[in-house]
Amino acid sequence: MNAKLIVDRDFVVSELDRRMFGTFVEHMGRCVYGGIYEPGHATADEDGFRGDVLELTKELGTTIVRYPGGNFLSGYNWEDGVGPADKRPVRRDLAWFSTETNQFGTNEFMKWAKKADIEPMFGVNLGTKGPDEARQFLEYCNHEGGSALSDLRKEHGYEKPHDIKFWCLGNEMDGPWQICHKTAEEYGRVALETAKVMRWVDPTIQLAACGSSHRNMPTYGSWEYQVLDHCYDEVDFISLHTYFNNHADSAAEYFGVIELLDAFIKEVAAICDAVGAKRRSHKKIMLSLDEWNVWYKTHKIEHMRVPGWPEAPKLIEEVYNAEDALIVGGALIAMLNNADRVKTACLAQLVNVIGPIMTETGGAAWRQTIFHPFALASKYGHGRVLKSVAESPSYSAKTFPEIPYLYATVIDNPADGTTTVIALNRSLTDSMDVEVELRGLGKDRELVHATELHHSNLKAVNTKDAPNTVAPKENKDVTIDGERLTLRLKPASFNVITTKATAAA
Ligand code: AHR
Repeated sequence: MNAKLIVDRDFVVSELDRRMFGTFVEHMGRCVYGGIYEPGHATADEDGFRGDVLELTKELGTTIVRYPGGNFLSGYNWEDGVGPADKRPVRRDLAWFSTETNQFGTNEFMKWAKKADIEPMFGVNLGTKGPDEARQFLEYCNHEGGSALSDLRKEHGYEKPHDIKFWCLGNEMDGPWQICHKTAEEYGRVALETAKVMRWVDPTIQLAACGSSHRNMPTYGSWEYQVLDHCYDEVDFISLHTYFNNHADSAAEYFGVIELLDAFIKEVAAICDAVGAKRRSHKKIMLSLDEWNVWYKTHKIEHMRVPGWPEAPKLIEEVYNAEDALIVGGALIAMLNNADRVKTACLAQLVNVIGPIMTETGGAAWRQTIFHPFALASKYGHGRVLKSVAESPSYSAKTFPEIPYLYATVIDNPADGTTTVIALNRSLTDSMDVEVELRGLGKDRELVHATELHHSNLKAVNTKDAPNTVAPKENKDVTIDGERLTLRLKPASFNVITTKATAAA
């Protein structure tokens, strides 16, 4: 099969916001306890943070991490998780029917964030709580000192403000499963009032309002419109959440979910712009895809709840296979091609709970299959996303009417002269010869690397005992002729190819 990909140095989608490579840590299952935090583990440091998980987090290349939830957020009292650990209350968490010991909270997360070298993305509880709690929490975190709550932080041992810039106004408030679920009217009002008081406490923050929990919600579309009709002027982002499902157990059908993500992004951007147009506003609302991943094998109630209010039970520990990794890679391409609107995104979650990293409590940590496309995209995703024009044969599926076999994005990094092609071959049977034209990007080029993720068995998984079954390898079928590259992509493969201009264009 043959395909073509053309880009031009001067045709740019957008500068790429590195916050697109975010992840998510929720107080759920073994994400915090037994995941990032496990005092007593052989690799734990003086703060109880697992060293093996910290190393893998850095290798994953995540840039921003959302915390503390998720559904957990809507019943969370931030005060429970600060101050002397032996005085913190043990609570029942009504999101996951687990016992929360509160031994890990805001200050521990901020310590971990420094060690992991990531930016924090926090959420305020707009379920059981409201604007008053939110402004107090922000004052505790970001105010320099000289007020009751900033002085309390100092008393807790944190002299300098945490200076947390990105805040989510609640979580999935459109979902009936949410603790204190709201209608769009109710939520739009409370989001507006919360945003106002939070900005008065700290005008430097960025705020994200809750969008729809997924594109199939019955209120999808009208939710975004009504919410933004209230709080357009006070928020910077609207969130999108999506979890991909291999409904038909068919890889060809499954690939269509990537097209649905592209449609979801464009639809939400259009709704934001409709609200802006009605207000004759010059402001553009950006998109925060702050929960996304593959999640279907454990998307059942018995995987979400364990009876008896256990502490850190095994919840939704999805084991990812090779085809899931291709979907994650494709979703990253969709986000990159929409980099003018998608500025932040969080792969949900980071460890154990639908995570790219898996651990054994008291044991090993390893990379799941989906770790690899994310790490590759983050490593080479620097610079500007170019508008690519693709010519490719396509097929039709029930999930989406027209699915081109080639799905690709091109990122150009003027800072170091590199250009990276990220390409998915969605044919299950045929390899693909892709001719890439890098117009105006320099005729003298050298190969930096050509990497492929491919496994002949789409159901292959990584395990503790065989952690590298699905792992990146070199793609040896790449040739360079001036600004023209020829790539041979294996069937059902995800590829990242970087070349560098050795002389000015
Ligand atoms: O990531 C797991 C859960 O999925 C989150 O808590 C919730 O926001 C979403 O429904």
